[in-house]
Amino acid sequence: MIDAEPELRKLRGHLLETGTMSPDWVRAYDAVPRALFLPDVMWPSVEGQDIAVSREDDPARWHHWATRNVAITTQWDDGRHTGVARGELPTSSSSMPGMVFSMFADLSVADGMRVLEIGTGTGWCAALLSARLGEDNVVSVEVDETVADRARKALHTAGWHPEVITGDGLLGWPHRAPYDRILVTASVREIPRAWIDQARPGAVLVMPWGTRYTPQDAIVRLVVADDGTASGRFTRPARFMQVRSERLGWPTQSDYILGDSWPADTRESATALIAAEVLPDSDFAAVDFVIGLLVSDCVHTSGRDPYGRLTMWLFGLTDRSWAAVFFDEDDPTDSRVFQGGPRNLWAEVEAAHHWWAEHGRPGHEKFGLTITADGHQQPWLGEPYTNAEVRPILDSTPTFGHDVLPEETRSTSTVPTA
Ligand SMILES: C[S@@+](CC[C@H](N)C(=O)[O-])C[C@H]1O[C@@H](n2cnc3c(N)ncnc32)[C@H](O)[C@@H]1O
Repeated sequence: MIDAEPELRKLRGHLLETGTMSPDWVRAYDAVPRALFLPDVMWPSVEGQDIAVSREDDPARWHHWATRNVAITTQWDDGRHTGVARGELPTSSSSMPGMVFSMFADLSVADGMRVLEIGTGTGWCAALLSARLGEDNVVSVEVDETVADRARKALHTAGWHPEVITGDGLLGWPHRAPYDRILVTASVREIPRAWIDQARPGAVLVMPWGTRYTPQDAIVRLVVADDGTASGRFTRPARFMQVRSERLGWPTQSDYILGDSWPADTRESATALIAAEVLPDSDFAAVDFVIGLLVSDCVHTSGRDPYGRLTMWLFGLTDRSWAAVFFDEDDPTDSRVFQGGPRNLWAEVEAAHHWWAEHGRPGHEKFGLTITADGHQQPWLGEPYTNAEVRPILDSTPTFGHDVLPEETRSTSTVPTA
């Protein structure tokens, strides 16, 4: 019999010392061991890699990872993938305890509050919320039927009975509204109106939110106002799996450029930006987040071309605009830019980076988001916005358009692959 208690105490100490867990959550943490919600085969994220761990094959190793501060994938490919090997896309998980408790801290719950959770996953968060607020005050919605059934079973076995709904969480759950708090544990690009409509004025919504530019998210804490708007700051960077309907089939070069030559409208130019400025090592770099706020409907990807050059590709999502940047890491003055389509995507990225640098390279937590009454998502920088005016993100919005690119020439060289 493995005694998990010392490891659980160690993690609790760490979460408290780092300020990740607020003291009012200690009782719930102690009452709800995460291991009760984890499947027999699971894939903890260890140094960026999901490793397979089977309880049957190695119980000690399974318990080791069940009590660590790591995210654990619990389903691949919407359940189509079975077995111990990793699948293609992680589609359900138990979030990292540090992230769970910091989101709970952002949620700032008080006794008696009614909470809606979107993304039941393993059911661990729903159990923790039940322990903290009472199971009658917790409703959780999970889109995947198998995941929802498994969570219900795990909850019942552990002695908790919050309402678990199988359905699309983007619709919320109007039958138990209004909610005092809404916690979303899958990331969104578009915040559904239903969540704000189902929250009472003064309610707090906490969720991972991001842009199309990068898979990176940031946790946003929104407070709902009397007039049906919601507004608040980002609290920290994060990386969550996206809600099912917003997953993007990643565009590829051949969707934008047919054949082996640059299209006729290709514009070639130089760039003063070095690769490290726009392709940071960290998955959580603020620059990615901020460029995403400023350059809408655009994704980016990077890699080495067949000649070993570091290459960045940008693809427009609302038209066929594209850009390719070939960085010369030894001599940045030799980096070359190719752009095509109606937008000059690289020029937009350069302008966004310039704006960010001019504003002192602010981090995630300097930004906030307002959802207007008509559902528009308006990011902003600076002091919290008051509902009297929507403060735009930019006091000096860069003008994006066809005239931004300094020198335009046409190239006939061959297209290297991304
Ligand atoms: C990171 S996991 C949730 C972790 C969970 N809170 C826990 O305690 O284990 C994200 C979950 O969101 C679910 N999900 C994705 N899209 C959804 C949607 N539209 N509505 C409800 N759940 C969704 C996924 O199936 C997945 O189980």
